[in-house]
Amino acid sequence: NEIYLQGLGGQLPPFTTDGSALEVVAREAMDPEPFGYVSGGAGSGATVRANREAFDRWRIVPRMLTDATNRDLSTTVLGTAMPAPVLLAPLGVQSIAHPEGELATARAAAALGVPMVLSTASSHSIEEVAEASGDGPRWFQLYWPNDNDVTISLLGRAKAAGYTALVLTLDTWTLAWRTADLDQAYLPFIRGVGTAVPFSDPAFRAGLAKTPEEDQTAAILHWIPLFTGTDKRWDQLPFLREHWDGPIVLKGIQHVDDARRAVEAGMDGIVVSNHGGRQVDGAVGSLEVLPEIAAAVGDQTTVLFDSGIRTGADVLKALALGADAVMLGRPYVYGLAMGGEAGVRHVVRGLLADFDLTLGLSGHRTPAELAPGALRRS
Ligand code: FNR
Repeated sequence: NEIYLQGLGGQLPPFTTDGSALEVVAREAMDPEPFGYVSGGAGSGATVRANREAFDRWRIVPRMLTDATNRDLSTTVLGTAMPAPVLLAPLGVQSIAHPEGELATARAAAALGVPMVLSTASSHSIEEVAEASGDGPRWFQLYWPNDNDVTISLLGRAKAAGYTALVLTLDTWTLAWRTADLDQAYLPFIRGVGTAVPFSDPAFRAGLAKTPEEDQTAAILHWIPLFTGTDKRWDQLPFLREHWDGPIVLKGIQHVDDARRAVEAGMDGIVVSNHGGRQVDGAVGSLEVLPEIAAAVGDQTTVLFDSGIRTGADVLKALALGADAVMLGRPYVYGLAMGGEAGVRHVVRGLLADFDLTLGLSGHRTPAELAPGALRRS
């Protein structure tokens, strides 16, 4: 009603949550390097495409006369109440999209009550983003450093600043062959060294023995080995338990055996995700693996999903196939690039409204009513 009655005034991003429409306008609003970084995937882009194709293979079968006029989308995931089963995925270095970066995203998320997951690679500090988020729900995403002092420092700061759940990302222990960035010799972390988490972390800085703070090259050379490597194993997870008092979720799960191992390791949840197709070129579409993973562990742990969510129908499909909630990635950063806080709010509100209508028109009053029977594979 708001839109039809007041009109657009030509000021906001398009109302479709279709990723390609947003991407077209975002490309105009952004410089080529940041746009390439945000929109790009690994290698040939096969996994980015596979993520979308996986959604296309499922169709909704609407039901009639179900009294779906009054709907309730709200839910609670790992102790966090939210207006709908939707969170903002952790996306690093958001200042490449807008100078206010994560601060604008935090304000928009808090205004809607939608949880924001703050990245380790944020361009604003853990504390600054917490302040911008105010009473808003917030989780913290960890790239697990090869230095226990830095890990403990990051976790302690996040906990003290009111982040309630920890999302441990497993799939990016080194950056993939990202052709858009290689073509432009662009690594955004290099631009944001001064303020970014973890560059501003006291334990990180302590490790930068005698290097002047302004020496960015030294900071980068110190950072790369700290956040790159393969020495993390399943039996090291108890270390995080020791230092994090709250739910822990493993992000980047695509194989049903890894989902089972997460449960065996006592984790509180998983994110079925392939990092938006940015890591393994030629990998399976994330939605393809969701049903088997949900069937194997869905009754034992919290299952979140991301990679390819663009519309309300996509949210519905992922929930029907077993996700407890979904995380939205690139679209909200396109909103950020085009309109700062208002742009993020606009994109997220659009997605929630689209989901609400699609849920109701397909015959459901709550997300909990969704089951695989709401869909047909075609
Ligand atoms: C990401 N993603 C990500 N994940 C993470 O755990 N920590 C991070 O810092 C980042 N940074 C990041 C930056 C950018 C520009 C993108 C596009 C993605 C992955 C992100 O959390 C999520 O898994 C995907 O974005 C989901 O796919 P869609 O919705 O973008 O297709």
